[in-house]
Amino acid sequence: MEANPKFLNGRVAVITGGNRGIGRATALALAGAGAKIAIAGRNQEKINETLALLKEAGAEAAGFVCDVREEAQVKKLAADVVARFGAVHILMNNAGTAIRKNVIDFTMDEWRMLTDTNITGVWLCCKYFVPHMKGRGYGRIINLTSIMAHVSSTGRGVYSATKHAVAGLTKALALELIEDKITCVAISPGFIATDLTAPLRADPAKNQGILDQTPMHRWGEADEIASLALYICSNSAAFMTGNDVLMDGGFCAQ
Ligand SMILES: NC(=O)c1ccc[n+]([C@@H]2O[C@H](COP(=O)([O-])OP(=O)(O)OC[C@H]3O[C@@H](n4cnc5c(N)ncnc54)[C@H](OP(=O)(O)O)[C@@H]3O)[C@@H](O)[C@H]2O)c1
Repeated sequence: MEANPKFLNGRVAVITGGNRGIGRATALALAGAGAKIAIAGRNQEKINETLALLKEAGAEAAGFVCDVREEAQVKKLAADVVARFGAVHILMNNAGTAIRKNVIDFTMDEWRMLTDTNITGVWLCCKYFVPHMKGRGYGRIINLTSIMAHVSSTGRGVYSATKHAVAGLTKALALELIEDKITCVAISPGFIATDLTAPLRADPAKNQGILDQTPMHRWGEADEIASLALYICSNSAAFMTGNDVLMDGGFCAQ
């Protein structure tokens, strides 16, 4: 890894869904390495909470309310971040959600909500941030996919389809941005203990089912995913692009 612990000094990182869960953990990890942080989400209270933690850690940080499904809001987010920090070097497309339901039981509204959040949101952020990232000689796009971009299962079909779509976008963007020295890498977490999975952990049978399916027999931590994101932002990972890195306690090895 980098010899300089502040190897992200002078870099600006935007993290969608940076106000809690994996996004918050990554915001704190990147701030620890010296990056200036912009977090975006819909919940202002959670934004404030995370900003307080970032400031406590000595980071320069700002929060922005943005629904990544809305083009006008994402366009404004990009303009506001550039106005505030003057540049963007790292974009983490982390905002995402899940609905557990069999494919044919989805309503049109549910389909739209999930695909708009998990696919359209990623595309819109790339569309409006990448132009600001070009010409800097360094750039990182990190897209959150999932073990469900590698396998699927009953009740996970539409979520899985959104994450497969993001894996495809990641590969194409990586190729399109080679000359700009912007790498694009996906991270596929297994089951991580966050708000997203709180209902599963609260149900003893479902919780046990997940522990049984995960060879390490434990939940992953948001900090573990954040450490991988931090590595991807380092110069040590400069040759890594277009791929999807699993961190899943062995789930996909089975
Ligand atoms: N936890 C897991 O086990 C797991 C496994 C595989 C992949 N992932 C992926 O990892 C990412 C982060 O998950 P997490 O577990 O940290 O989830 P989480 O704790 O539920 O956090 C989700 C984040 O996304 C934001 N978000 C959701 N919809 C949004 C929208 N329309 N516009 C803007 N922000 C939005 C939320 O902020 P607001 O609510 O304030 O908008 C929140 O910050 C997701 O893409 C998820 O699919 C998670």
